Amino acid sequence: MMNQDELKREVARAAISYVVEGEIVGVGTGSTANFFIDELAQIKHKIKAAVASSEVTANRLRSHGILVLDLNEVDHMPVYIDGADEITATGAMIKGGGAALTREKIVASVASQFICIADGSKLVDRLGRFPLPIEVIPMASQAVIRQLNRMGGEARLRLKEGKVLVTDNGNYIVDVHGLTIEDPIAVEAQINNIVGVVTVGLFAAHGADVCLLGTAQGVQTLRFDQTHAVGT
Ligand code: 5RP
Repeated sequence: MMNQDELKREVARAAISYVVEGEIVGVGTGSTANFFIDELAQIKHKIKAAVASSEVTANRLRSHGILVLDLNEVDHMPVYIDGADEITATGAMIKGGGAALTREKIVASVASQFICIADGSKLVDRLGRFPLPIEVIPMASQAVIRQLNRMGGEARLRLKEGKVLVTDNGNYIVDVHGLTIEDPIAVEAQINNIVGVVTVGLFAAHGADVCLLGTAQGVQTLRFDQTHAVGT
């Protein structure tokens, strides 16, 4: 029986077949994305460059000798490949466990397809057991927390080593515990509308197009219909 890391490595390897030769690839953040970066290094001569969703990912890509471009230099990319904290059977996701949700959503928005790579534990019937990450402007954090608590969750500022975590963008992360997310598209829009919120870690208005799910029976490919997605 494969452990979680082995399942992550399997899906990272499977994702290589979605990388388009001679093109730019968008790269996510987290332990599964790290396995993908290590696989990408093996075929780095076949791609033009990568766009990173965090400083950590950019550094790992560069350490493998992969060219990292600023998103402003790129007008299209066929695929964005990233992990998720939770994913549903319709491709809606919670992301942001690694605090990189804003850049992840931005890079994904430029890509034609979102390929999610996840071990089987990430597939859920309903989103919300994993605390929902939200990036907020620091001066608004307490005001946003009060609004989120009114929605029925328990919102807390994310800490790292006893201090408030600061994102790559200089903002804070609020994690909302105990939120019942019946309609992820509606909740994404509702939280996006709170003043002071930069990004909500719900990827539902535009979810994954494909999920490569690592299971004991091998890598399963789930395909989702994103024709409802904004901007398609
Ligand atoms: C980072 C993310 C990650 O994709 C998510 O946290 C999953 O991480 P891992 O691959 O380590 O399980 O959204 O912001």
